Amino acid sequence: MNEAVSLSRHSIRPYPLLLSSEERAALKSQTPRCLWLTGLSGAGKSTLANALELQLNRQGLHTFVLDGDNLRAGLCRDLGMGAQCRRENIRRTAEVARLMVDAGLIVIVAAISPFRADREAARRLFADAEFIEVFVSTPFAVCAQRDPKGLYRAAREGRIKDFTGIDSPYEAPLQAECEIDTHALEMAEACLRLTALLLKK
Ligand code: ADX
Repeated sequence: MNEAVSLSRHSIRPYPLLLSSEERAALKSQTPRCLWLTGLSGAGKSTLANALELQLNRQGLHTFVLDGDNLRAGLCRDLGMGAQCRRENIRRTAEVARLMVDAGLIVIVAAISPFRADREAARRLFADAEFIEVFVSTPFAVCAQRDPKGLYRAAREGRIKDFTGIDSPYEAPLQAECEIDTHALEMAEACLRLTALLLKK
């Protein structure tokens, strides 16, 4: 970090907002949460996030989905798939989720987020009950067979590199609040479980 950057960073003081997070949430009559879906590409994270969001919306709850692919189309479009870039991708995603939770929303993150340390860093941005980690544990073989974007095939053929589960690691959570295998569980049942989890904690 050069001197000018270091100096300007030290002169940043978070400005206390007059309207509190509690007041924002109270206006929405809900308890804000960050539900973090992690798992392999093709595990069903985006499908699950979208089905869940629809269900919550129909119940009158205020939500937003932060999807890895969507963020990578804008905010994170300067990032690749190497380990450093994934780390930065997850850092940015977590910071945006934090802001959205402060705004009073129930945020559903759907990102591979392959590294345990990065997910733990994301968790540390939140109070205990605010962050719910969900391991979308659909097995590799099922994801590779689904291969909705042809990426597994491309990775096997060496046309793309750093592919999660092939030549880039996936570190499964050790203590996720919930585990869902979209191959073994109906989507409707999965949504019910996650809704119960969100409204319980
Ligand atoms: S993360 O690892 O940084 O969390 P993220 O969820 O944002 O990944 O983005 C993953 C998406 O990028 C996948 O849904 C897939 O469509 C696409 N993708 C492109 N290249 C790769 C790759 N090498 N590994 C995994 N996903 C990839």
